[in-house]
Amino acid sequence: MKQHQIKFYYKNVTAEVLGPEHGITKEQFNQLAQKTEPLIKQLNADRKAGKVRYRDLPYQNDTVKQVKQVADRFDWCENFIVLGIGGSALGNIALQTALNPYMYNLDDKQRKGPRLFVFDNVDPQQMSSFLGWIAGRLDKTVFNVISKSGRTAETAAQFLTVCGMLEEKLGKNSLKKHIIATTDPKEGTLRKTADELGLVSLQVPDGVGGRFSVLSAVGLLSAAVCGVDIEQLLAGAAEMDKKVSQLTFYQNPAAVNAAINWHYYNRGKRISVMMPYSYALKDFADWFRQLWAESLGKAKDLSGREVFIGPTPVKALGTTDQHSQVQLYREGPNDKLFTFLAVEDFEEDVQIGSSSAAAPELGYLAGQKMSRLLNSEKTATEYALVVNRRPCVTVAFGKICPYTIGQFVYLFEVSTSIAGLLFGIDAYNQPAVELGKDATLALMGSGDYAELAEKIKPFTEMDNRFII
Ligand code: PA5
Repeated sequence: MKQHQIKFYYKNVTAEVLGPEHGITKEQFNQLAQKTEPLIKQLNADRKAGKVRYRDLPYQNDTVKQVKQVADRFDWCENFIVLGIGGSALGNIALQTALNPYMYNLDDKQRKGPRLFVFDNVDPQQMSSFLGWIAGRLDKTVFNVISKSGRTAETAAQFLTVCGMLEEKLGKNSLKKHIIATTDPKEGTLRKTADELGLVSLQVPDGVGGRFSVLSAVGLLSAAVCGVDIEQLLAGAAEMDKKVSQLTFYQNPAAVNAAINWHYYNRGKRISVMMPYSYALKDFADWFRQLWAESLGKAKDLSGREVFIGPTPVKALGTTDQHSQVQLYREGPNDKLFTFLAVEDFEEDVQIGSSSAAAPELGYLAGQKMSRLLNSEKTATEYALVVNRRPCVTVAFGKICPYTIGQFVYLFEVSTSIAGLLFGIDAYNQPAVELGKDATLALMGSGDYAELAEKIKPFTEMDNRFII
């Protein structure tokens, strides 16, 4: 059976459509090809040398086996809770929204596994409401705490809270039965704790950063537990691997995508809007936001020169944001590149009612498929943007399934790597996140940060002179 292939469509960035001022001419495309092809080669070589470890995730058969074993072992649970943040959470959320029904958690008939909650924050009101609900259901609940470093304050706080509650309600020995740890294979606070407590554990593979880890145990376990075919997910990624390894620029969708983004960034279009026309894909826009922002937003290039570079990713949702953002997108500054996500064939469809009570002027809608309306609105919005010479690309999903989602994930991960090479920066570190993390520890009274705590003092109180 022929599997669905996602398509990357870029006619609406060309000068043929947008004119020479805002569109990319044939000559410019050829220059982009010349610049990018050696970088594809370099990335392939780096990957071969073991320097781009996420590229090998589609082929981790042992991980799949392990993940499935763990999923089977915990198949008694009715609630599966992921504790994690950033790259340890966003992929879990995106896979669940994409591949399970909207009412999954609420309708027992629509779910193939336990309810799934992903806690990627430390909001006391949210957490308190949740703890109140889960407290009486703990015997049927499993917590997967995911942290590569094991020292992230948010995840650590959630973990300690949950451990305390389990011990209090179900006794000291309950942790082993109700907690799984997904963390570094050898190092870090969580690895140590997991080993000491004898928790079932999975590994965040060496050399794979959080935002590139969705196809590792980090994202695979909650997906498998909730009935997603993780082998198909990885097969889709492997399929995309063939395309994004192509040395010929015009045959490599990740290269063309990265080059278009780089081209526009250098010409003042520094905002990348991802706009899915599919609720199922909406959380992939959040996942993309992290991938793009943390990977490409850098103060220094690879030679140490200050560059302060990075496109700003923005999340929008069709059609919702047509009624919120499109006024700006069409008539505001022409400083954005739009990436639409579109679905040709929705798994489920709805026929719009043809009630006789409806006003005759609504007759054009009556009896039509809702998917036709959604997709017409996507075409209409793209058309309207193009009229105002705003560049647009589309990733078209024949249908949403694990195989196409795997392709999408891999396409954007490799696009990010190639964009990193075009910008000349390190796409795999995030040095700027550290200061905020350290400052939090200082404010929370960690003895190791006493000096920093002094520096932050002026920020802990409002200065009366500036209060109105
Ligand atoms: O992409 C990243 O590296 C980050 O977003 C991390 O995933 C995030 O900070 C959480 O880190 P950790 O998994 O160590 O708790």
